[in-house]
Amino acid sequence: MLAKAPQLTWEEAAAPSLVGTTAYRMLHGWPPHTVQRGDVVLVWGGSGGVGSQAIQLAARGGALPIGVVSDERRGEYCLKVGAIGFINRSDFHHWGTPPHWDDVTGQREWSASARAFGSQIWKIIGERRNPNLVIEHPGEATLPTSIFVCERGGMVVTCAATTGYSGTVDLRYHWALQKRFQGSHGSNDDQAIAYNQLIRDGAVDPCLGEVVPFDQLPTVHHAMGEGEDVFGNRVVLVGARRAGLGAT
Ligand SMILES: NC(=O)c1ccc[n+]([C@@H]2O[C@H](COP(=O)([O-])OP(=O)(O)OC[C@H]3O[C@@H](n4cnc5c(N)ncnc54)[C@H](OP(=O)(O)O)[C@@H]3O)[C@@H](O)[C@H]2O)c1
Repeated sequence: MLAKAPQLTWEEAAAPSLVGTTAYRMLHGWPPHTVQRGDVVLVWGGSGGVGSQAIQLAARGGALPIGVVSDERRGEYCLKVGAIGFINRSDFHHWGTPPHWDDVTGQREWSASARAFGSQIWKIIGERRNPNLVIEHPGEATLPTSIFVCERGGMVVTCAATTGYSGTVDLRYHWALQKRFQGSHGSNDDQAIAYNQLIRDGAVDPCLGEVVPFDQLPTVHHAMGEGEDVFGNRVVLVGARRAGLGAT
């Protein structure tokens, strides 16, 4: 049981619990790859639930979070919550399983696009630095790129595979540069308490998106499936008569 932040409404308090504690574990729970001041942190879905929390947590630790998004408005949202820049993934086309390693032409095209994506990170940072940490959750569509752009000795940490479970790793980029690929799920009690304290202190924004009454649950489930336009976290009221209650 975690104490609710008194200054937040019920829906604000509920919004970030799952994604925030998960992001906290991804960034702090896997030593020695815990987020450090000055680290470059690449965050997929930066305007989404996990992403908007990961950006804030990385930024408040003095790291340099970069969001990946599918349009400019989502990019602006990343900047608002603390990213130093964003990459629009719609500008690239090398997503999903890369061509087989013996397909020389396909491999050349894939790695050219992946390199162009990586050079966007350098452009944002202002120097040739790759992400020390990559916050993964799309999975099949993005894992090959995450492993490719991750810094030598860095970590790709994943909590999901929203686009598919068959994530591919080109092992050459993985072993030769001694990268770590780490699964992460939920959080432990200490991590949940530490994250909740940040919310209670007002140090992290809950990123409340849309709030809907309980009878609209099927509609918003459908909208989620369609990838509809909501930033941060959608909340469904359960028991509360209306939004805006619960704050002292
Ligand atoms: N294991 C755990 O403990 C745990 C805990 C919480 C959540 N999760 C999982 O983590 C995942 C993310 O949750 P969430 O709440 O952040 O979801 P969300 O708010 O819907 O955000 C997901 C983001 O993924 C991005 N995305 C969608 N399709 C993509 C693609 N093809 N390539 C790259 N990015 C894509 C979208 O951003 P753009 O379109 O802007 O790129 C979107 O903002 C879900 O699968 C969820 O179930 C796991």
